[in-house]
Amino acid sequence: MTTNVDYLTAKRTIDDRALDRRVWDRFVAALPDGDDPVRIVEIGTGVGSMIARLAAWESLPSSVSYRAVDLDPACVRAARERLPRWLEAAGYDVACRSGRLVATRADGNDVTQLDVTLETADGFALEDDADAVIAAAVLDLVGLESALRSVRGLLRDGGVLYAPITFDGTTAFGPAHPLDGRIERLYHRHMDEVRDQPGSSRAGRDLLETLPESGFDVVAAGGSDWLVRPRDGDYPDDEATVVAHVLETIEGALADYPPSVLAPDVHDRWLETRRRQLERGDLVFLAHHLDVLARA
Ligand SMILES: C[S@@+](CC[C@H](N)C(=O)[O-])C[C@H]1O[C@@H](n2cnc3c(N)ncnc32)[C@H](O)[C@@H]1O
Repeated sequence: MTTNVDYLTAKRTIDDRALDRRVWDRFVAALPDGDDPVRIVEIGTGVGSMIARLAAWESLPSSVSYRAVDLDPACVRAARERLPRWLEAAGYDVACRSGRLVATRADGNDVTQLDVTLETADGFALEDDADAVIAAAVLDLVGLESALRSVRGLLRDGGVLYAPITFDGTTAFGPAHPLDGRIERLYHRHMDEVRDQPGSSRAGRDLLETLPESGFDVVAAGGSDWLVRPRDGDYPDDEATVVAHVLETIEGALADYPPSVLAPDVHDRWLETRRRQLERGDLVFLAHHLDVLARA
């Protein structure tokens, strides 16, 4: 079994490739760069990959106060452990001060000061007055209307919501298998109708519709598909872990259907084939997402 922390750590390189750079550039340009620290709140920070990416891609304004929250204490622990190393790799000097990470990067006369707090909390039950809220791969796991109401309350007027990697209704594998269509439909139906957790298999499109009704203007949007493919029988970095985790998630979803909907031997056959292909380095995986930037 893969852990959530392993999965979130491994997916960083896939997200790096997938992110829509036009939407990213609009987000980075929307961050004010004045004397006061820019206040960023990240909901569902996972293991802190977005903070590390913003630092590594030199996309932060000169002074940033970054509040990163996640419901899962294991994620927050992993972020606390990993972020100092990742920020150092991005050229920052990092100090831990009373639970905060204070990271500084000097490049000639340009200095970037990044102050990070990591909290275990429900990101939709916070109070803040942020310039930007980031929710990466999160808005497909929540009820959109109430989540956007909370995000609107977290942002100052004119602040931005950046919601990349919002799942949008395609989970595909190659080479083609005769059961693919049926498995995909049941997996997505599980997100929409069966699992206890809210969220939607069409969250990207739903988000585009719901934002204007929730006090936001959509500034930019684009596709950010995950494509994981082996080269010479091997997967880059730790990306096989992501595909293994997705197969486990699909297995868990299919197990919730009664045999009258899907006979266990049928889904076992499909899963065995996909796992064998992954093991051999023959399996291609694709998931469709949208990146959305909106202004409050
Ligand atoms: C798919 S992960 C994405 C993590 C990270 N943003 C990334 O892209 O690597 C979704 C994360 O959202 C967190 N999450 C879900 N609901 C949340 C909530 N109400 N408040 C804070 N975090 C939440 C989960 O614990 C999980 O770590």
